[in-house]
Amino acid sequence: QSPSAIRLGLLRWYTGVHASRGMPWRKPYDPSQGPEERAQRAYEVWVSEIMLQQTQVATVIPYYSRWMSQFPTIHSLASATVDEVNGLWKGLGYYSRASRLLAGAKKAVANYGGRLPDNAKDMEANIPGIGRYSAGAICSIAYGERVPVLDGNVNRLLSRLLALHAPPKAKATLDILWAAASILVELDPVGSTESQDHDASATPMEQTQYPGDINQALIELGSTVCKVREPDCGSCPLRPWCRGFITAGPEGIIPEIIP
Ligand code: ADE
Repeated sequence: QSPSAIRLGLLRWYTGVHASRGMPWRKPYDPSQGPEERAQRAYEVWVSEIMLQQTQVATVIPYYSRWMSQFPTIHSLASATVDEVNGLWKGLGYYSRASRLLAGAKKAVANYGGRLPDNAKDMEANIPGIGRYSAGAICSIAYGERVPVLDGNVNRLLSRLLALHAPPKAKATLDILWAAASILVELDPVGSTESQDHDASATPMEQTQYPGDINQALIELGSTVCKVREPDCGSCPLRPWCRGFITAGPEGIIPEIIP
């Protein structure tokens, strides 16, 4: 359909309405950063993504800040004890997440000089506890790699966008949704004749369309607007392209297209 126009709508919404919302791990992508700074950023995004897996943003913020003052670098984390790590995790639940961070940090320090691999394929293959979603989030946000993300929120958003009446967790459905997420995050998909900047009012940031911004916009739109119940279609930037809305309206899509 119109991935370029959809990206622009997403990014306008993301920068306009939801720039940082006080999330300390969210910083503007800076293409001039060197490998060391990017790896540090990858560490920070990794910690935030693991904390956000089963916990809401508002709860995560103070935990994230305490974690970062105690373990400002992946090296400091790698030399921590399980007790120290669990102490900082107290109250967040799902403690295995803390041990996975510790194990991942040890591996990154032992095998990669303390730098998380700079592409999603290597990261997913080599760092314990990092799956396709986390690798995509970290590598797109910290390293600027054009790789997709698909979590529960993005799954629901894209299922509705495409009016995909299919079991949300079936392999065939996930294949389609990962492909859709890839098209959205990729600049100039093969065969596309659209140019990025045919909208002259787009700001430079909107024209550049960093993958980390596209992905974070999708995650956030899915969790705050395209909610499971009572999606806020009235304030959704993607409504003009949403097959779910067009074919069924905001109420109609709820019972049919829910992961
Ligand atoms: N949930 C998971 N990852 C997130 C991110 N980068 N921003 C906001 N919420 C999230």
